[in-house]
Amino acid sequence: MSGKLKFDTGAAKAMEAMYLTPDVVGQRVTVLNALGLLPYEHVLDIGSGPGLLAEDAAKMVGAEGRVLGVDASEAMVMMARTRCAALPQAEFLTCDATKLEAPDAGFDAVVSTQVYEYVDDVDQALRELHRVLKPRGRAVILDTDWDSIVWHASDADLMRRVLTCWDDHLADPHLPATLARRLKRVGLEVGRVEVVPMISVGFQPHSYAAGIMRAIRSFVRGNAEKHGLSEDDVQRWYDDQLRLAELGAFFFSVNRYMFVATK
Ligand SMILES: C[S@@+](CC[C@H](N)C(=O)[O-])C[C@H]1O[C@@H](n2cnc3c(N)ncnc32)[C@H](O)[C@@H]1O
Repeated sequence: MSGKLKFDTGAAKAMEAMYLTPDVVGQRVTVLNALGLLPYEHVLDIGSGPGLLAEDAAKMVGAEGRVLGVDASEAMVMMARTRCAALPQAEFLTCDATKLEAPDAGFDAVVSTQVYEYVDDVDQALRELHRVLKPRGRAVILDTDWDSIVWHASDADLMRRVLTCWDDHLADPHLPATLARRLKRVGLEVGRVEVVPMISVGFQPHSYAAGIMRAIRSFVRGNAEKHGLSEDDVQRWYDDQLRLAELGAFFFSVNRYMFVATK
């Protein structure tokens, strides 16, 4: 594999497992609290992935409400449809964030978590978000800034090179730094902005940190050459983390940034 991350069936399964860890469950609770959904509301989840947030949202808006999840990946859409099969108020479509197959002003609330960082034309995607939101509708957007990472390693230079390569998995690994300005530019009013940290002090196998370690190893292996890394370097980086874990010296932290906006 080389270039950007591919959201095929294998990636969808790995992502689903990572997003079922307590860290990411907690993140979803934070996002849903900020969204403040009410029964009967119509919600759009842009880049709905495995459908975990859409499932929770569908239960919150109830049978009289509606949740539409859209995603560019057919594998993700299939997974989300299976997950929400018993919730007829939840529907899923394959479509791109820059060209939403949704009517103007059709939604009370729009949510998008860790999606815009993958999108080449974020400003067009945000114009689309604004178009489909009702006047006074709410939007919650969450993305990671990979500059916020603090990750203990025995070889700091190797860690830096691995993370530089990992930055390539996104269109913009530092999107949060410009997101408030971009949201305002498309006509949204930005209210709260909050940091949502992912943190592991000590290694837990069922954690976001453990999942992202595996994702990074797989992506960087496929893109190592471009960054002057060898397969051995990547394995050395991974083994070092396992060794630190055994010593009780594992430390990982990265920040998501959550923007709450209104139209
Ligand atoms: C990291 S996952 C996040 C999934 C979900 N939002 C969540 O938080 O559980 C990113 C998702 O964005 C989707 N995606 C990436 N680029 C997209 C685009 N241009 N339009 C729509 N979806 C996109 C991917 O297919 C993937 O499902």
